[in-house]
Amino acid sequence: MKRLVKWVGILLAALVGLFAIALAVIYVKTESRLNRVYAAPPDALSIPAGGAAIARGKHIFQFRGCEACHGEKLEGKVYLDDPAVGQVIAGNLTRGEGGFGASFSDADWVRAIRYGLRPDGTPLLFMPSTEFYFLSDDDLASVIAYIKSVPPVDHVQPLSSLSLTGRAVMTLVPAITFIPAELIPMAGPRPAAPEAGVTAEYGEYLTLSCKVCHGLTMSGGPIPGFPSDWPPAPNLTWGAGSKLPAWEEADFIHFMRTGMRHGSQVDARYMPWSSYQHMTDDELCAVWLYLQSLPKLDYGNR
Ligand code: HEC
Ligand code: HEC
Repeated sequence: MKRLVKWVGILLAALVGLFAIALAVIYVKTESRLNRVYAAPPDALSIPAGGAAIARGKHIFQFRGCEACHGEKLEGKVYLDDPAVGQVIAGNLTRGEGGFGASFSDADWVRAIRYGLRPDGTPLLFMPSTEFYFLSDDDLASVIAYIKSVPPVDHVQPLSSLSLTGRAVMTLVPAITFIPAELIPMAGPRPAAPEAGVTAEYGEYLTLSCKVCHGLTMSGGPIPGFPSDWPPAPNLTWGAGSKLPAWEEADFIHFMRTGMRHGSQVDARYMPWSSYQHMTDDELCAVWLYLQSLPKLDYGNR
């Protein structure tokens, strides 16, 4: 009996030891990813001055979802605090105390928004630059003009951080990373941006964010990496299981502005219409055209 107890004890100690080693390896591996210094291309954007560019920048800032994360006054906020992932804290972008605006150069803004990098070249966490990488020079320059124009707000916050579980997920599941810079083709040629207009092509440019949830093919299904109690994303193509063939363009525009679908409201946490409500009629019509142009896929072929 004594012997058995001894062996069980040794076994337990070995397991605890192995576990500690695994955690240490995970920590060290993620630290090296977080401290990697990336060289972003030196895109030279000239940031426009003047009311029209600032107004356009504000419009983009609102409908592309920047405002939902960074706040209405750009004061920054805690977007998510979840032990499973970590703390997602979108920074204060103003010139006030604790704001990045006080020290960022034009090149720093481009590096952060387009490539997901801090001024020193290390990667930002969670900031969806994989999407904003596709913004045209003009759109990005207007957004920066707007950010630089807002009044300072004093609001000091910590940087985002990963929990140990978040680090473990990122180390053990190759398809998941919370470091957008790892997915951005920094060396590649810049993607072309279509001209603004009521066209399917421009609609596609406006739907970069939808694909995070509705899938790259827009055919919907459960959203990978999202909490299991979230509703799945519906099919937005005209294939089997889609409700959209029964919708008119006006129903679509009404839904994107209000979240109202057949008399009940969809939660803006799940389907962020609170950002999309800022899109113009022309922009929403372009998106509607794009959805109709998609290959008709059955539900769930993300
Ligand atoms: C899903 C939420 C989310 C959205 C949408 C988002 N951001 Fe961020 N952003 C973040 C987070 C989180 C960070 C901070 C990352 C960190 O601390 O590592 C960040 C960082 C930044 C930074 C670097 C300064 C800082 O706060 O660390 C800039 C600049 C920035 N975002 C601008 C934008 C702009 C412009 C848009 C829209 C085009 C945008 N963001 C959309 C979450 C978001
Ligand atoms: C953060 C995830 C997310 C993003 C981003 C997102 N959606 Fe959704 N969307 C959803 C979810 C989830 C639902 C279903 C909500 C429900 O049933 O409660 C939905 C519902 C819809 C519906 C209603 C369809 C139906 O059959 O009822 C439409 C239309 C729609 N989204 C269009 C879009 C468009 C266009 C975009 C991009 C401009 C977009 N969504 C971006 C998650 C998202």
